[in-house]
Amino acid sequence: MQSTLVLIKPDGVKRNLIGEILRRCEAKGYVIEDLKLFQPSRSLLEEHYAEHQGKPFFEPLIEFMLSGPTLACKLGGNRVIEGFRSIAGTTDPTTAAAGTIRGDLARDWGLNVQQNLVHGSDSEESAERELNLWFG
Ligand code: RTP
Ligand code: MG
Repeated sequence: MQSTLVLIKPDGVKRNLIGEILRRCEAKGYVIEDLKLFQPSRSLLEEHYAEHQGKPFFEPLIEFMLSGPTLACKLGGNRVIEGFRSIAGTTDPTTAAAGTIRGDLARDWGLNVQQNLVHGSDSEESAERELNLWFG
């Protein structure tokens, strides 16, 4: 069994989409193992997004993630790491496939960062690192 870190980012929390997004995770058959709604610190976010340090969207991304509370979720199930990324859809919400969380519920609002509702760990190593960071 695997666990992955899912984040419902500030846009999802503000738009009252927590229930809808968790419903999709549960409907797919994954299990909510832990939940935490809070405003992460800048240092937690900078560590979480360390791989993007130096990219042009890094600072806008951190500012966006500081704009309100995030729901952190430990989601479990067989192959949940790739499975959640599949139901989340691709990064750019405007072109994410219909039927996915991003494709159905998000779009590019013309702001300086992609507000795409959710994060999901992208590998077993990332999942372990990120779950420690957010729930350790
Ligand atoms: P995530 O890490 O949030 O699950 O998303 P991802 O793997 O699909 O995307 P990633 O490349 O890891 O980027 C992390 C987040 O940064 C924002 N982003 N904005 N060009 C841009 O404006 C841009 N590129 C990335 C998005 O919020 C993305 O989810
Ligand atoms: Mg990523």
